Amino acid sequence: MAVILDGRKLSEKIRSSLKEEVERIREKFKRAPTLAVVLVGNNPASEIYVNNKIKACKKVGISSIDKRLPENTSQEELNRIVKELNENPEVDGIIVQLPLPEGLSCREVINYISPEKDVDGFHPLNLGKCVLGLYEEGLMPCTPAGVMEFFKEYKIELQGKNAVMVGHSNIVGKPLANMLLNANATVSVCHVHTKDLKSYTKEADILCVATGVPKLIKEDMVKEGAVVIDIGISRVNGKIVGDVDFERVKEKASAITPVPGGVGPMTITMLLYNTVKAFKLRKELESNSLHRR
Ligand code: GUN
Repeated sequence: MAVILDGRKLSEKIRSSLKEEVERIREKFKRAPTLAVVLVGNNPASEIYVNNKIKACKKVGISSIDKRLPENTSQEELNRIVKELNENPEVDGIIVQLPLPEGLSCREVINYISPEKDVDGFHPLNLGKCVLGLYEEGLMPCTPAGVMEFFKEYKIELQGKNAVMVGHSNIVGKPLANMLLNANATVSVCHVHTKDLKSYTKEADILCVATGVPKLIKEDMVKEGAVVIDIGISRVNGKIVGDVDFERVKEKASAITPVPGGVGPMTITMLLYNTVKAFKLRKELESNSLHRR
């Protein structure tokens, strides 16, 4: 039976060290790192996500600014609000909750967020740094960064392993595939157009799945002893389920993340981590420019 990779426990560990760091920052700089959360419209799932993010900030001592905008907000107005937050020196991180209402462009608004405050790690500059492995100087997308924390915590070796990423989204599949590649895994990226998905997944020592298709990955698609990371989250008959048939696959894998309680909690944890990091990176920039003057 597989080791269950416990995202709640790992989150708790990281959040408790972040809490201490936030306390030190408050003492030294007389203010807490601050996250601005922008939500346009009233998508019920987005409202829950945003409320959870704000609650999580509070628990570690990060301040938050909660900007709720009406459904009919124009692109210009949204861009202007982001620009205002970019220019506010007391704001360290900005997220615009996705998806946006119809008619608004996420790419346009993401490009508007200042890369130093882009705590989602969605800006092209941060994604470029992710591809190059320049993790320290950029802000990495939260879900892939959270997955990499599991490998570190549970000492799962990646070098030379066959890693298969199922799903090629800009916010999970593409960055995670690059992080695995930077760790010297041999990476295949599969997606909705892949022919014979099973022929890839069966060869995976490390199998990461982010498709949003409930129970896409069955036991016969998994190699004996594989590490399985389930990044899917769907609601089926009122129950939260992942992309992997957990009950059967856990008998075959050597390690597996459950849903819920696996990757999910790590995404918010890494958002908190990025907010603290964004604060520190900006302080560093400020002090460097003071030295240069
Ligand atoms: N919608 C679903 N996941 C995310 C996320 O990680 N960040 C933002 N901004 N929106 C999302």
